[in-house]
Amino acid sequence: MNHPRASIETPAGSAISQWPDIDALYRRFHALVNQPMRPVRRDAMAKVMDYFEQRCQGSKRMAEQARQVIPGGVQHNLAFNLPFPLAIAEANGAHMTDVDGNRYIDFLQAGGPTLLGSNHPAVRSKVLELLEHCGPTTGLLHEYEVKLAELVCELMPGVDMLRMAGSGTEAVMGAIRLARAYTGRRRVIKIGGGYHGWSDSMVYGMRLPKTGRMEAVGIPRGATANTQESLPNDLEAIRRRLRWNRLRGGTAAVIVEPFGPESGTRPVTHDFNAQLRKLCDEFGALLIFDEVVTGFRAGLGGAQAYFGVKPDLTVLGKCLTGGYPMAGAIGGRRDIMMMLVGGIGTTAKRAFVGGTLTANPLSCAAGYYALKEIQRTDAAVKAGQAGDRLRRGLDQIIERLGLPYVAYNMGSIVHLQTSGVMLLDTSSLLKLARLKNEAKQRKHMMEEMGAAYTAHGIITLAGSRIYTSLADTDEIVDEALNRFEDVLKLV
Ligand SMILES: Cc1ncc(COP(=O)(O)O)c(C=O)c1O
Repeated sequence: MNHPRASIETPAGSAISQWPDIDALYRRFHALVNQPMRPVRRDAMAKVMDYFEQRCQGSKRMAEQARQVIPGGVQHNLAFNLPFPLAIAEANGAHMTDVDGNRYIDFLQAGGPTLLGSNHPAVRSKVLELLEHCGPTTGLLHEYEVKLAELVCELMPGVDMLRMAGSGTEAVMGAIRLARAYTGRRRVIKIGGGYHGWSDSMVYGMRLPKTGRMEAVGIPRGATANTQESLPNDLEAIRRRLRWNRLRGGTAAVIVEPFGPESGTRPVTHDFNAQLRKLCDEFGALLIFDEVVTGFRAGLGGAQAYFGVKPDLTVLGKCLTGGYPMAGAIGGRRDIMMMLVGGIGTTAKRAFVGGTLTANPLSCAAGYYALKEIQRTDAAVKAGQAGDRLRRGLDQIIERLGLPYVAYNMGSIVHLQTSGVMLLDTSSLLKLARLKNEAKQRKHMMEEMGAAYTAHGIITLAGSRIYTSLADTDEIVDEALNRFEDVLKLV
């Protein structure tokens, strides 16, 4: 592994003020997962559960109703079930209010798309205006389709052309099909633990590296037969795979989350992507950046501008439509993108993608005005500063209380690892088998931490991730830090 020694300062005006010291982080991850868990004390956890019983009866009733008609009662994989999912009535800026009137600081931000904060008026008013005269969808070309594509091409160094899709998952699926069509090759390498949506070929090595088909229930072996995974930061292993593949027809693409698997949960070294670019060039494989999370959040030019690395294809989602539906797009080099030509009349050889509601005026207008507002307000930089302030405060609390937890951030993406479940060493089958039970317990602890944060007025993503937004003022961040401290004192 080729780790830089310390955190790397990045140029002023960047949404990521500093790249973490990767060596130091991995040492702390190792220490965290090699000691007994430090969950909330049992007596304190009983009080946390009491909060939900006393204050969230409306959510509880709705959750019971939902369970009758919705499998498990929730439709978001990262939603909390412990003790039951909260039903939300209002989301505005940095706050959410549940159906019982409890107000929370919202660090979920819908899972990432609302970099401006929830329900931003500048976007909402334009969407309402469009709905008045056009409605949400037409099935034909609309001005906002072009405007959004032009803007993204202008902002993202690796995007010459853009094709919208229904979601990040769809866009990944399309990008992989396109890479295969363009190169005439089958094999795709992903980084173990990375999440690229739920299409058949990508439910492979999800969340934890080297877990292969562990989650591929209902997916035929053939669908993942050409998917391979390599450990994050292990460039030598990727080279070996590329070499092995070359003798068997080659590699169509290497797909990565440019900050590292699960939005940088296992962060990559600062030069990892540049090295990967070189490897892809050497072996003629396309480099796909999955910027569903990093796109616009890591700065208007995404992670590709931040690292100065141009991928061949870019997958976008989330922030692309500012929190409105149908967030997905494939962007990339013109010569490759031309294999996605649409329309009935074409006879060109193409990789088929589609979707009735794809590129509808509503999503495109929302995306266009959201990106314009992000640009005008410098939202990625400001949200990044809020992320820095929050992480610094968390570091101080963790140190003061002598906890083994690890906080780190890349701008507005903040990680707070307490149970360490996502950091377990699953690099071999033997280790994986040994850790199955422990993973279950650590996952439960992560859920408990999430419930404890909620009971103290903070909503996180799965109890371990925090997305900050433009709406997070210093006062809000400081208030959140007080609440986090109250929770961490319960350990
Ligand atoms: C990196 C990454 N790729 C793809 C996806 C899938 O996007 P969607 O949920 O819009 O299908 C996600 C979703 O969280 C993601 O984080």
